[in-house]
Amino acid sequence: MEKQKPKVLIVGGGGREYSIGYFMKDEAELFYAPGNGATSQFATNLEIKDYQGLAKWAKENGVDLTIVGPEAPLVDGIVDIFQKEGLTIFGPTKGASQLEGSKVFMKKFLQKYNIPTARFVETSNLEEAEKFIEEMGGKVVVKADGLCGGKGVLIPSSVEEAKEQAREMLSGKLFGEAGKRIVVEEFLDGFELSMFAICDGKNFKLLPAAQDHKRLLDGDRGPNTGGMGAYAPTPLATPEIYRKVEEKIIKPTLEGMAKEGYPYTGVLFLGLMVVDGEPYVLEYNVRFGDPECEELMPLIDSSLYQMFYNGAIGNLEGIDTKIKPITAVGVVCASKNYPYGKSEPTPIEIGDISDINGYIAFAGVSEKDGKLWATGGRVLVCVGFGKDVKEAREEAYRLVGRVDFDGMQYRKDIAYQALDK
Ligand code: AMP
Ligand code: GLY
Repeated sequence: MEKQKPKVLIVGGGGREYSIGYFMKDEAELFYAPGNGATSQFATNLEIKDYQGLAKWAKENGVDLTIVGPEAPLVDGIVDIFQKEGLTIFGPTKGASQLEGSKVFMKKFLQKYNIPTARFVETSNLEEAEKFIEEMGGKVVVKADGLCGGKGVLIPSSVEEAKEQAREMLSGKLFGEAGKRIVVEEFLDGFELSMFAICDGKNFKLLPAAQDHKRLLDGDRGPNTGGMGAYAPTPLATPEIYRKVEEKIIKPTLEGMAKEGYPYTGVLFLGLMVVDGEPYVLEYNVRFGDPECEELMPLIDSSLYQMFYNGAIGNLEGIDTKIKPITAVGVVCASKNYPYGKSEPTPIEIGDISDINGYIAFAGVSEKDGKLWATGGRVLVCVGFGKDVKEAREEAYRLVGRVDFDGMQYRKDIAYQALDK
């Protein structure tokens, strides 16, 4: 008799969660809470919203593993709730999620465990902030402590502007309560990398390094977004950089978190700045990046279920994670008013894509009468594969050419940093 597939519940409903399920669907029976209009093609979408109710459902229905995509449920403590019910769940606890939830917690942690990061002050006192701004000659970045949907970071161009930004944050004028404690840090001039480690509390598997494109428009102009495209692996990350990231950043992070009483299980997302070959931590996130996850999942050449399951039970040592020797490039197709506001639902037309080496990760979509509709935000990601960045990028843009919906916007220069490498 065929062995029954394990049951996996994926929390979230964006392109990130779509890609996790899409590449696991042959080895597991999948459920999403809430999922989207395209995850229902290979999984069952659930409408349960409260975490307690979800844990109850998972228990009653014999779910073997729950994987959490976005940060909000993690910061809210979904992992603690599931664990209390004796369920296996992949993600950091509420305590461990402070690495993303509080910049002050993060910077203090980095300092305490000697992990490379920009010099900084963390304060709610304007004079202290001003003193540091002067010492740094205005070459600083001003950050709000709390979660501000990625918008809480300002890069001033002079001492005066920096002081004004610090003042407006501290007064609550800019970001309300989230800005009443700030971090002012040295501006680091280098290139950015996103690195992801699957962690089990003690051990980790480092995945290929990616680069994201946060601005809306070509040439890194326009407003910040959740990310308009990414690619992995990036040739900008040399073996030496991987080694330094493991030794100087990931190992001390896992040891430090265990010492603090928050052993780290889940995806550790390092937002890095590489300056003269040295990686510095700009930020931690406690989950996969979106759209980076959409490029990383297809690179994994071993069981995704085993990787997440063994991560959740603290036994990553017991498995081998293989990586395909290919590159993936993902181009986000966003709706008309992204990132400023909502857009009217509009039907998505997709031509024949059977000749393309790639796939589409669906995010902001709903399903009606067998057709997919764009419902706003980042609608889908066209991911191309190839032997190198150039080839993968060509496939990704060929895929974009087969997709259409009213008001569709996308960047035409994804992976530009790596084209001449
Ligand atoms: P964060 O949310 O802290 O990752 O910051 C958002 C973006 O601001 C980063 O992706 C960087 O592009 C930029 N940034 C943050 N901190 C620094 C820094 N110390 N030096 C230069 N750029 C920074
Ligand atoms: N793409 C960056 C993020 O998910 O935060």
